[in-house]
This record gives sequence, C-alpha cells and structure tokens, in this order.
Amino acid sequence: MQEIQISNLKDYVGQEVTLRGWLFNKRSSGKVKFIILRDGTGYVQCVFFKGNVTDDILNSADRIGRESSIEITGIVKKEPRAIGGYEIDAKNLMVINEARDYPITPKEHGIEFLLDHRHLWLRSKRQVAILKIRHRIIKAIRDFFDDRGFTLMDPPILTPNAVEGTSTLFKTEYFDLGSAYLTQSGQLYAEAGAMALGKVYTFGPTFRAEKSKTRRHLTEFWMVEPEVAFFDLNDDMDLAEEFLEYIVQTILKEKKEELNILERDTSKLEKVKRPLPRISYDEAVEILKKNNVDFEWGNDFGGADETIISNQFDKPVIVHRYPAAVKAFYMKRDPENSKLALAVDVLAPEGYGEIIGGSQREDDLNILLERIKEYNLPQEAFEWYLDLRRYGSVPHAGFGLGLERTVSWICGLDHLREAIPFPRMIYRNTP
Ligand code: 4AD
Ligand code: MG
Repeated sequence: MQEIQISNLKDYVGQEVTLRGWLFNKRSSGKVKFIILRDGTGYVQCVFFKGNVTDDILNSADRIGRESSIEITGIVKKEPRAIGGYEIDAKNLMVINEARDYPITPKEHGIEFLLDHRHLWLRSKRQVAILKIRHRIIKAIRDFFDDRGFTLMDPPILTPNAVEGTSTLFKTEYFDLGSAYLTQSGQLYAEAGAMALGKVYTFGPTFRAEKSKTRRHLTEFWMVEPEVAFFDLNDDMDLAEEFLEYIVQTILKEKKEELNILERDTSKLEKVKRPLPRISYDEAVEILKKNNVDFEWGNDFGGADETIISNQFDKPVIVHRYPAAVKAFYMKRDPENSKLALAVDVLAPEGYGEIIGGSQREDDLNILLERIKEYNLPQEAFEWYLDLRRYGSVPHAGFGLGLERTVSWICGLDHLREAIPFPRMIYRNTP
C-alpha cells in the first residue's frame, strides 16, 4: 500500500487516497459531516455527504469520539479555505479503535491535569508544533557543529564526581564501588575529547537536583557542549554568537508554520544576528545599579537581575568575566585581574535568562590542583582530569547551551515544562 500523508496531499489533487490517523475534531451541518483528521504530519478536513456514503458510515462518523483512530478514503481537493489548504471528499471511513471520553477537551484544563496527562497532551496542536521545533533545533545544533569539523562525542552519564558544584548532585549506589552521580555536564569528558580530536561536542541528557521550583529549571535537561583546543575566551564568544544566529535563523526559515501555530512574535527572533552585544560583568552590575537594584559586586545574577540586564538589549547579550568566587573550579582566571574568571554567559532576550554558560579552562596543572583544594573537591576523583594538564596541556575553551531553555525562548513558552516531551521537576517524575 502506498503511504500517503497529509503533508504531501498537494501531490494527489484529484486522486483517491487513503489516510490513517486520529480524529482531531468533528462537526455536523445538515446532511454533511466534517471530520478533521490528524496524522502527525498535518491536519485535513474530510467531508462526508449524505448520498455519497452509506448511512452506516454517517452513523460511525456521528458516534466516534475525539482521538479515535481511523482510516479515511476519498478524493483530494484543493480548498484554500480549509485547514492546510486541501480537503478530502470522503467515500469511506474505517474505525480502527473507537475512543470515548478523551480526557483532554478543547476547554481550559489546569496545568497539573495536563501534566498528569502529558502522554495524551502531546497530541495537541500546540505540543506537536513544539515537538517539531525542538527536533529541528536539535538538527540545527548537530548540523552547525558537523559542518565545522567538530566530532560528536558521548560522555558517560554515571560519573564519579561533580562538575558544577556538589549541591545539585543526584546520587546512586554503584555496586561495590560506592556512589555514582548522574552527570551535571559532559564538559570534563569533552575536554579529554578536545585533546584527542581538537574540536568536539557532547549532546545529551544532564541532571541537576535543583531544589528551586522555577520556570527555568528542570532536574533532567539536554545540553550541547562544544569544547575546542587552542580556543581562548574570545574565540569561545565568537563561536557562541555564530551558533545562536544559526539556530534562530534556521528555525525562522524552516519552521514558519509551527511558529505561527504558537503565535510567536518572530520580529524579535529576526534580530538575532551577529554581532551580539558583549558586556563585562562589571558593566552588567552598572546596569543593575542604574535600574535601582540593590546589588552587591561579587554575587551571581538571579533570574530577576538577568531580566533587567537583558531588557537593555533586543538581542541575546553576552556577559563575560564574572567574579571567580561564584563560578566553577575549572575556569581560568583573568590574567589582568585574578578576582575574575574567564567565564561567559549568554542571556536570552524577553526574560528567558541564561541559555549559555561557558569559559576558558584552567590549563596549568599547579593552579588547577590549588583550585581543587580550595573548592574542597576530592583530588583522587579528578586525577584523570589533571592528566590532561600533565600531558600536552593547551589553552582551551567551550560552553554549554541548555536545549530546553533554547526551545522555550524560540517557541515563546512560559515554562520549561513544555519544552521537553516528559519533564522532570522537583515535584514531578511521572508519567
Ligand atoms: O551554566 P551551566 O551550569 O554550565 C555548565 O554546565 C558547563 N559545564 C558548560 C560548559 O562550559 N561546557 O549550564 C549550561 C546551560 C545553562 O546556561 C542553561 O541553559 C542550562 O545549561 N541549564 C539548565 N537548563 C534547565 N534546567 C536546569 N536546571 C539547568 N541548569 C543549567
Ligand atoms: Mg551557568
């Protein structure tokens, strides 16, 4: 049987086709019944005229509920007024599985109800659009690095130590070896990869036992992390800038229909072109002071601070050189001011906050040994990482981009929970 999908109906105008999918919606008007069929590739209205089809078929069309799985045969017609621009003049309807009382109805449901039914909620038009954009962003990310000579390298998920501070570690028993931790970031392994391959990226799930219940935090999220040998902080910022432009411009070009379904104001995304503004942490603190925020130099920015800083710009803003004390142990200090780390964060506009965090890495063995002591980290667990500084150490840098924060920003979502198929949060690990 030839497989015909709603997305390629344009090639079958005037021909008889059979489509399989689910009943998205239906209505009836006099002697005509309309079924909107969805098949994952699109939506099409199928029209059943009394006289063209048997009474049995009309009765079935009347009886079956939303999300029943069905097969419809009919002639494809161009119909600019119909959803998707085509219509099916139906001849036959076969019910595969009749659904009754589908729990998600067009009325408003509370968010907890929708999250409890996430396995079904995914079928809604809005969620399908988000899933498609997420998929296209993933492809854009991979294309970007693949086209620039990077090698994809998969880091382990079960790890012996922390990368990003010990307060957000998920711990698990590991046979006779004691504890293992779910990875917070693939970075340390990416650094080993960069010394083997020059330019690498990792892309996979990462975990943080975040105790914060915010719209920007998940406990399981996906992160892409490029790492490049011989890169300094400036090279790292150049790469981040080109990367963001590429992702956003690709989605604008390739996912117009989905952005439209989400009612995304794309004029704001169109501005995401190089060069992006670059400011130092000190300059960011000045912005806060000018906006009457009581902020003490040396602290990290909170979500509200990030919003004020990014609101000064209509593009993502790159903030560099943070106080070393609030950043991770592996970051190299600024040779011009040892209180600062060669760190970089990129803050998305429209209040979406930090989407990228990165840095130039400490490449000196003795300094790194000192840091590990200062941060009270177990040196033994880091011996392999220190080897990267013992054998052919070079300057290097990289960053991590949070996939869900990026999806959320590009789609214009209110909360990260819609940016991943099955969100994991402090208070939710089902379905
Ligand atoms: O700034 P972070 O913690 O940086 C790192 O993990 C570095 N090791 C990356 C690197 O240099 N290779 O996290 C990077 C990004 C953040 O900017 C944010 O987008 C995302 O990961 N992120 C989260 N996303 C969702 N939920 C959370 N709890 C997140 N924590 C970080
Ligand atoms: Mg960060």
